[in-house]
Amino acid sequence: MDASSVQGDLVDVMFTEAQIQAKLAEMARQIERDYEGEELLLVGVLRGAVMVMADLARALDRHVEIDWMAVSSYGSGTKSSGVVRILKDLDTDISGRHVLIVDEIIDTGLTLSWLTSNLASRDPASVEIGTLLRKPEAAKMDVDVKYVGWDIPNEFVVGYGLDYDERYRNLRDIGTLAPHVYG
Ligand code: PRP
Repeated sequence: MDASSVQGDLVDVMFTEAQIQAKLAEMARQIERDYEGEELLLVGVLRGAVMVMADLARALDRHVEIDWMAVSSYGSGTKSSGVVRILKDLDTDISGRHVLIVDEIIDTGLTLSWLTSNLASRDPASVEIGTLLRKPEAAKMDVDVKYVGWDIPNEFVVGYGLDYDERYRNLRDIGTLAPHVYG
């Protein structure tokens, strides 16, 4: 779906599809350099990371393996409590493997902080994080992120995997949602 189809719902387009693809290509070049000669497992965090995983993996000019995790909260308290529940675990044994967690946004940092420690306890060779977006002003937890596309203001963004009430994930661009939509 194009931003023009939901124009009235957006305050503005923050990043166009072309800007997103260019940024992912930059990130891919860094990843290729950093993991040269190493095997690499990309771990996507469902559901929002589907788009970034699909495009980042294809931007990489090398072999990678891909696996997925789904995590959720114990109710709406999660994002403040940091309590995360695994809905779908990895199918891969990551012991001795280089793991790069791929996500579309780091907001409070609680999900990725929890996930990184969880994966680190499985004896991998390394665990790093790559995210397209990060909201520094929303951070409640310091998360060590190796690859960041853009730091953005603490605004309600949708598109490219990011949803409001499960909608807008299939928007090609990333936009700021207008308050009248969620207000
Ligand atoms: C988003 C995103 C991260 C998490 C970041 O997922 O994919 O995993 O929130 O937020 P945090 O830094 O505050 O923990 P969400 O819970 O919205 O689920 P979804 O991917 O299924 O939309």
